[in-house]
Amino acid sequence: MMPSRVRLLSAALLLLAACQRPSASRSALGGGVPPRQAPVFPGGWRFAPGTPAAFGEKFMIASNERRASDAGNEIIRAGGNAVDAAVAVGFALAVTYPVAGNIGGGGFMVIRMADGRNAAIDYREVAPLAAHRDMYLDAQGNPTNESIIGYRASGVPGAVAGMAEALSKYGTMTLSQVMQPAIKLARDGFTVDSALYGSLASSKEYLARFDARDVFYTNGAPLTIGSTFKQPALARTLEYIAQQGPKAFYEGIVGDSMVAAMTRGGGIITTADLKAYKPEWRTPIRASYRGYTLFSMPPASSGGITVTETLNMLETWPTLPAWGTPEYAHILGSAYQRAFIDRNSKLADPAFVKVPIEQLTSKSYAQALAKTIDPAKKTPTPKDGSQIVDGMHTTHYSVVDDKGNAVATTTTLNNGYGSAVYLKNVGFFMNDEMDDFATAPGKPNMFGLVQYEANAIAPGKRMLSAMSPTIVLDPRGELLLVVGAAGGPRIITATSQVILNVIDHRMNLSDAMRAPRLHHQALPDTLMVETGGLTKEAEDGLRRIGHGIRYMGGLANVNAVMRVKGGWEGVSEPRVGGTGGTSAR
Ligand code: GLY
Repeated sequence: MMPSRVRLLSAALLLLAACQRPSASRSALGGGVPPRQAPVFPGGWRFAPGTPAAFGEKFMIASNERRASDAGNEIIRAGGNAVDAAVAVGFALAVTYPVAGNIGGGGFMVIRMADGRNAAIDYREVAPLAAHRDMYLDAQGNPTNESIIGYRASGVPGAVAGMAEALSKYGTMTLSQVMQPAIKLARDGFTVDSALYGSLASSKEYLARFDARDVFYTNGAPLTIGSTFKQPALARTLEYIAQQGPKAFYEGIVGDSMVAAMTRGGGIITTADLKAYKPEWRTPIRASYRGYTLFSMPPASSGGITVTETLNMLETWPTLPAWGTPEYAHILGSAYQRAFIDRNSKLADPAFVKVPIEQLTSKSYAQALAKTIDPAKKTPTPKDGSQIVDGMHTTHYSVVDDKGNAVATTTTLNNGYGSAVYLKNVGFFMNDEMDDFATAPGKPNMFGLVQYEANAIAPGKRMLSAMSPTIVLDPRGELLLVVGAAGGPRIITATSQVILNVIDHRMNLSDAMRAPRLHHQALPDTLMVETGGLTKEAEDGLRRIGHGIRYMGGLANVNAVMRVKGGWEGVSEPRVGGTGGTSAR
């Protein structure tokens, strides 16, 4: 349907489409499936197509930090499954990737067992019981930065309870077993690399105001490259959890330390908050797209619904315009814009707000929305918003084990190093997840995202997330792709573009990850594009039909695993060169 929509806006783009050429890359599917194609990236784009991905015959783990991925590898080699490994990676990231790996934050995990069971666990933080709708507004009703920095910015952490719960239901090992690699990394230390050094150097001002300065900036400078970084306080905390279970995080010495720090610093998390925290099992959002099946995260994340709504709109085009054309960017950006309008106004913690999941993920709703996309004109978002800013952090990891079980996990402190509050005697950073609420409904948060009443603060409520851990099955029902991202609202757009690059544009995983990304989140009403990610012709074509374009240094941080002939390919985000880590066998 809608063939008029795919008409070309400029002849140059026909040329681009025609330039796509088949490659001899491994393909998991047999006859009848088009081969993978090498894309043509715009001249000057930072990556060339054709970079080989890591390959594992038996299993694959892709995260932002190799030593954390190795922790999962060790667990699978010892007989653990993908869930055991995912929990090992999660705890190890808290040690080796403190910018986003955490025990003081929260996350979401989507699980697909080889026997066909699917599950999703929500261990998102919740607003403390003393939280209230206007707690971050100044006397003039404007949001302050207290939802971002300092003691009042934290929600009640969910990571420890969530990972332990996932393990108890789908894992095969004990918490103590899967935590050993993380404990060892914390106790015996690991070598500081340029990635950790660079991250600390760029966050010095942010972190120096709290106790992290005594641990990460001894002598006033970031940890030295090549030195061994030991974290005895964190090792002790992890040992308590390993021995006593998640309770040891929420009560006892660790829980008391959290509450004492909050009391000292003006935070509001209490003993009652910690005791009340519970992860929630959810039914994954199940979507179909061109014969493929997706399992993704339902609310309290917006990820699964927004990805599904976008893909459902795109599916109304029998064939999408070629990758790299302005027609494709226009359709994609317009679909994101519409999905984000719903996301920003209708999605929230389902315990507090009735979320119309059925409607938003239905094909008929998407068809009606897709009809409003005019191929010749960009549609404005009803109200203007403010600038988007950089500086967020979250981390995603994808695990496939040797039995074909798969786990997609995204975890976060929100901002890099969370609220900057570091609890020195127990060794971890606290999140600043309260900023994911609409702290001032109708006004932008730190991602420039304008959200409304549904996501206003209330005690005990989970703040809406964009995390989109997703597992894709091919049309035969076999595991194909495990994917997700960091990057605030750009998680949704980056995750779905890797999926589209693989399914529609037939890229191999390495190219799908390296292809320039774009983003639209309704407000600000601008198409965000990675610098160098559009040809001049594509940019002109988009501007001609009314798109404002804002170039960004990099959009999101994805880690993915994909089935190929004979095994699995894994790719860690190439945009953060040097910090990536796959681990395989
Ligand atoms: N803190 C980022 C997210 O949850 O979407």
